[in-house]
Parts: sequence; structure tokens; C-alpha cells
Amino acid sequence: MINEIEKVLVSEDEIKVAVKNLANQLNIDYAGEKPIVVCILKGSIFFTADLVRELNIPVTIDFMSVSSYGSGTISSGELKVKKDLSFDITGRHVILIEDIIDSGNTLYKLKNLLLERNPASIKIAALLNKPDRRVTPINADYCCFTIPDEFVVGYGLDYDERYRTLKDVCVLSRSVYEK
Ligand code: IMP
Ligand code: MG
Repeated sequence: MINEIEKVLVSEDEIKVAVKNLANQLNIDYAGEKPIVVCILKGSIFFTADLVRELNIPVTIDFMSVSSYGSGTISSGELKVKKDLSFDITGRHVILIEDIIDSGNTLYKLKNLLLERNPASIKIAALLNKPDRRVTPINADYCCFTIPDEFVVGYGLDYDERYRTLKDVCVLSRSVYEK
């Protein structure tokens, strides 16, 4: 596996600091509220788990699974809801937790879908942002790291369901997906 990883892009320690800073900001911005934190499966599992444990406001945790990717590295642009929320978000403050914003297709469509349910607000917190790849106009309200146009894995992010459990965010060697 070692030579399938080109380099560490964001280290475990850098992630810890950024997650703590993000939580501090959310504690301020949502003081007195009880937002619904939506973990977008599966890429955001570790990010969400680490983030919510740094929050001192009460939150409801929910999960949603959508996809606009097959097993490759290019977004198909079509949103499939594989698992919907368990809670009604009408009148609630919603924080969408996303691993990475790439083309923006997934979040753009997901946000519009959820807005139809009349939440009090929807904000997006993303671990990573790849602005060079954006084709749909959407941005994170909170973002931990802006990264260059590289395919990354680890800390929840996968390539074909592999590498999610790496503790750092790493650049995947091109040889893995250009075979
Ligand atoms: P978008 O619709 O193009 O913004 O893609 C969003 C989704 O694509 C993310 O939630 C990831 O699951 C996946 N994705 C985009 N870029 C990467 C990457 O560099 N590594 C792993 N997954 C990625
Ligand atoms: Mg994802």
C-alpha cells in the first residue's frame, strides 16, 4: 500500500487542529441552538465523529448517503439518494458535513433537495475544498483546508472503497487509477 500513496497532503495533527478550530467556531455561531448535524456517508464519518465530540452545543446527529460518483474519479453529476435522513428538518438548523467539495455537483443538488423541506437554515462544513475543479457554484460556509487538484484518500475518503482508514489525507498515486 505504501507506494500507492504519493504523499501526505494533510497530516493527522493538522486535521486535529483544524477540527478543533471549526468546532470552536460552530460553538459560537450556533450558541443557544440545537442544530442537526448531517454526516454525509461515508466519506465524512471520521470528520463528523471528531467534530461533534469537540462541540459543546447540543446536536442531533443524522446520516444521509448520496452519490454522484461511480467507482472512478469523475463525478457523473447525477445525485442518487441511497439513504435519507431519519429526522424531519423542518424549522431546524442543519449543518451538512462533507468530506470534500470537488465539482460541487453533489452538494449543490443535495442542498437544493433539503431546502425543499423548509429547514430554518442549511450550512455546509467541508473538510477539504478543491476549488480548481468546481463546475457548480457552491461553496462551503466552513472549510478546513483548500487543496490543489489532486485525488486524495484517507480520513474517510476512499478510492473504490479503499484507503478510508488512513489517518492522514494523502495524495493517491496516479498509477492506482490510471492502470
Ligand atoms: P463533487 O460532486 O464533484 O463535489 O464530489 C463530491 C464527492 O466526490 C465527495 O463527497 C467525495 O465522495 C468524492 N470525491 C471528490 N474528490 C475526491 C477525492 O479527491 N478523493 C476521494 N473522493 C473524492
Ligand atoms: Mg463523499
